[in-house]
Amino acid sequence: MHGTRLLRSGPWSVAIAFALAGAILPRANLAQTPGPNVPRDALGAATPEYQQEALTKLMADRKAREIPEQFDPAILAAYVPEDNAVTPPRIALGRNLYFDKRLSKDGTVACATCHDVTRGFTDQLATSKGIGGQNGKRNAPTTLNVALLQILFWDGRSPTLDHQATQPILNPVEMGMADGAAAMKAISEDAEYQKAFKDAYGRDMNYEDLGRAIAAFERTLVFVDSPLRRYLAGDEKAISADARAGFDLYNGKGRCAACHPLNPSNPLGTDNRFHNVGVSARHQDFEKLAREAIKRLAEDSSEKKLDELAVGSDLSELGRFMVTRNRSDMGAFRTPLILNIGITAPYMHDGSMKTLWDVMDHYNKGGEANPFLDGGIEPLALTEKEIDQLVAFVFTLTDVRFAEENQRAMESQRVTVQEERPFRDDALANRKTLPFEQRVFGTKSTDK
Ligand code: HEC
Ligand code: HEC
Repeated sequence: MHGTRLLRSGPWSVAIAFALAGAILPRANLAQTPGPNVPRDALGAATPEYQQEALTKLMADRKAREIPEQFDPAILAAYVPEDNAVTPPRIALGRNLYFDKRLSKDGTVACATCHDVTRGFTDQLATSKGIGGQNGKRNAPTTLNVALLQILFWDGRSPTLDHQATQPILNPVEMGMADGAAAMKAISEDAEYQKAFKDAYGRDMNYEDLGRAIAAFERTLVFVDSPLRRYLAGDEKAISADARAGFDLYNGKGRCAACHPLNPSNPLGTDNRFHNVGVSARHQDFEKLAREAIKRLAEDSSEKKLDELAVGSDLSELGRFMVTRNRSDMGAFRTPLILNIGITAPYMHDGSMKTLWDVMDHYNKGGEANPFLDGGIEPLALTEKEIDQLVAFVFTLTDVRFAEENQRAMESQRVTVQEERPFRDDALANRKTLPFEQRVFGTKSTDK
C-alpha cells in the first residue's frame, strides 16, 4: 500500500524518504490546553510565567538538545548565520528576552504578547495590539518554524531572523523603544543579563547580540510533527479519508502546492516568494497608495521608517511594493507558512479571514480581481464537499503536540462558518471542469 502510493505520487517519494529519515515519531501528546483558567495580562496574552511553563511542557518530550531532531540538519544549518551558532547559553538568554516586557517603552509588551505560546505563537487577533492600546495594520504570523524562512515579514523587509528580532522593539505601535540603546538601557542593570550575554557571546551586552539571542531561541521552536508527516512516513491511519482526498486536491485541482509546497527543501508550505492573491484588493486604490508611498519614502527611506509605514499605516496594503517599489509587487505578500495553520486564525496579512473555509472560498472564486493579481490565481470550481476535504487536510498540518488546540479550533471554526459564512451561489462551484483542468487532466471531470 505504502509502495503503491509512493509510485503513484512521484515527487512525494522524496518527501517520504525525508519523513522516514528525519522523523522521530512516537511522542506523547502534550498539547497545552488554554482553558478558561489561563491567567492573562491586560493585553489578553497569557502571563509570561504561564507561557514559560507551557513552553517547558511543550519542549519536555524532546531530549535536551541544541537543534531539534525533526529537520534534516543540513537544511536547518543552512539558515543559521555563521556568527550565531545555536548554543544552550544563547537559547536560554533569547528565551528570557522573548518574554521580557521591559523591552517595551511602557513595560507592558513582550514578543510573547503577540506570539503567545498558548495561542499558536500568535495573538489570534486580526491585527496586533501594541503599547498604549495602539493597533497595527498587520496580522501577527506564528513564530513556530521561522527557523526555516528565507525572508521575514509579510513583505520580506527583513533578511534574517537575527535582524528581524531587533525591529518590533523599535516599532512605535509595537514595543516603542526610541532606539537600540534605549532598549539596552532598560535591562542593562540586570546582573543576570550581564552574565548571560557574556556567557552567550563572550562580550558586553549589546543590541545586535540581543537580536541574535532571540533568533537562537526561535530556531528551537520547531514543530513539524504533523499527522500528514506521520501519514507520509507510512501510518495509514494518521489522517482521515477526507483529508487524504484533500491532499490530492491540494496538489492538484486546488493548485495550492504551487505556492505552498510541502517538500524536503520547503517543508513549511511556503515558496518564500511574493504574490498578490487578491486579499484586500477590493478596498484599495493601489495607484494612489503607491504615489503616497513613494512620497513618504523619498522623505525618509530608513529601515525604521519602512517598518513604521508597513506596520502602522494604510500603506501596509502595498505589501512587497514598499520594499522594492516595483509595480508588479503591488499588493503582494510572502506566502505564509502553512504548518500549524489550524491554530493561528484569523488568516491573511490583514487577518480578514476568520476561518479556513473563508480562505477556501476566497481561492475558489479566484481571489478579488485587481490589475496585479498573481497569474497562479484563477477560479477553481471546487465543490462544497471538496472545500470540506481541503479544510480537513489543512487541519492535518498541525504538530501533534497541539492536537487538542487544533481540534478545538476546528470545531469553533465550524460553528463560525455555520453562523456567518455567506450563502454561496456561484455558478463556478457547479461547473465540472475548468479550461486549465482539461489541459492538465484531460476532459475527465475531477468532481468526486
Ligand atoms: C505588538 C505585537 C507584536 C510584538 C510585540 C512582536 N511582534 Fe512579531 N510580528 C507582529 C506582526 C504584526 C508581524 C507581521 C509584521 C509584518 O510582516 O509586517 C510580526 C512578524 C514577526 C516575525 C516574522 C514571521 C514571518 O512569518 O515572517 C517574527 C519572526 C516575529 N514577528 C518575531 C517577533 C519577536 C522576536 C518579537 C520580540 C522582539 C516580536 N515579534 C514582537 C506582531 C508583534
Ligand atoms: C499564487 C500563490 C498561491 C496559491 C496558488 C495559493 N496560495 Fe495560499 N497564500 C498565498 C499568499 C501570498 C498568501 C498571503 C496573502 C495575503 O495575506 O495577502 C496566502 C495565504 C494563505 C493562507 C493564510 C495563511 C495565514 O497564515 O494567514 C492559507 C491558509 C492558504 N493561503 C492556503 C492555501 C490553499 C489551501 C491553497 C489552495 C486552494 C492556496 N493557499 C493557494 C499564496 C498562494
